[in-house]
Amino acid sequence: MVIAPELYAQRRERFLAKLGGAAAVIPAASLVSHHADVEYPFRQASDFWYLTGFDEPEAVALFLPHRPETPFVLFVEPKEPSAEVWAGRRWGCEGAVAQFGASVAHPREELAKRLPEYLKGAEGIAFRVGRHQAVEPLVLKAWADQLDRAPRSGQAALGLVAPCGLLHELRLRKSLEELDRLREAARISALAHEVARDVVRPGLNERQVQGVIDQVFLENGARGPAYGSIVAGGDNACVLHYTSNTATLLDGDLLLIDAGCSLSDYYNGDITRTFPINGRFSGEQRALYELVLAAQEAAVAAVRPGATAEAIHDIAVRTLVAGLLDLGLLSGSIDAVVEQGAYRHLYMHRTGHWLGLDVHDVGAYRLGEHPVVLEPGMVLTVEPGLYVSDRLPVPEGQPAIEERWKGIGIRIEDDVAVTMLGHEVLSAAALKAPAAMER
Ligand code: GLY
Ligand code: MN
Ligand code: MN
Repeated sequence: MVIAPELYAQRRERFLAKLGGAAAVIPAASLVSHHADVEYPFRQASDFWYLTGFDEPEAVALFLPHRPETPFVLFVEPKEPSAEVWAGRRWGCEGAVAQFGASVAHPREELAKRLPEYLKGAEGIAFRVGRHQAVEPLVLKAWADQLDRAPRSGQAALGLVAPCGLLHELRLRKSLEELDRLREAARISALAHEVARDVVRPGLNERQVQGVIDQVFLENGARGPAYGSIVAGGDNACVLHYTSNTATLLDGDLLLIDAGCSLSDYYNGDITRTFPINGRFSGEQRALYELVLAAQEAAVAAVRPGATAEAIHDIAVRTLVAGLLDLGLLSGSIDAVVEQGAYRHLYMHRTGHWLGLDVHDVGAYRLGEHPVVLEPGMVLTVEPGLYVSDRLPVPEGQPAIEERWKGIGIRIEDDVAVTMLGHEVLSAAALKAPAAMER
């Protein structure tokens, strides 16, 4: 079930309450040109989507707590058969009111003319500068005019505030319905990993595996991949954002797949699995795989209300460092290696991020000095890894890397929801036990 209209209405109520007296201007995404007159597939802006569920480009939503009779105004592309015959159906102003709960809707081209009137009586303007090329000049012009008139109009001069903090605090805490959608995104994403592992053989191309993954996403009703799928054989896995996916899979290498789908309403999965292409780990591969898995499982086990993303990262790092010391890939004491960051040539990223309508979802990780404390309803990835190659220099005092370890890149990534009692691994259907990675 997609998110029901009443839930969008509830979100708007909460957002309006948080705005105090400020009027918020939240733009939809624009179409972006790919080449000539071809555009990239449309992807709605997540903030706009969260508050409206309206999936058309170029629209603008106003949230007006100071006008209780019209608190939610939409500006949309009006119905126009000659445009719709090319680009598809639009809801138009009537649909915006009837289907999407707008108090009133106007054609998008009337925004400049109508904005000053709607801002009258507001205590400020909540608008994210620097992101919306077409809308920003209209908002700044309306603001500038209001400031010019303020001495004579009797209205207090408006201030410009950022809406992101308020909105992203809401988005960070997922409702039960959102958790259901994330569960569904994780289910389809996990299925794609299971199907892909089954088809992988030496001699296939990374691109063919990517095709299998995309097919599972689409066949199961997802919009497509949530981000450029990473299908990285052997040493390619040591490039964290490898997306060219053009190499042949070699007997004896590992394959790292980082792929997740995006649902019709933009909730995302983000899963990574790593397994031997020929179905058997080498000794070195298995040792590092078991170590990453131990770090990942220890980090997942620590996800519960009251924990912090920082603490979860520390658990993963300390587990990895302890294992790397045992294997002779690092030397010294755990504390000294962690303190000096002398493991970062082997593990150079953080252990996770918020997950939701954005893959790297919104929401603060720190508030001033303090790390954000996990609460039920927050969803994060847990994704430690090890990447053994010559790309980064070995820190002074650390051992040179023997050839037998090189070209091994491993990451294990799950999507984890914080629950009242601890956590739920949304992506548990993607297997990760070493025996399940072999055949
Ligand atoms: N796929 C991006 C990430 O894992 O963060
Ligand atoms: Mn991730
Ligand atoms: Mn990922």
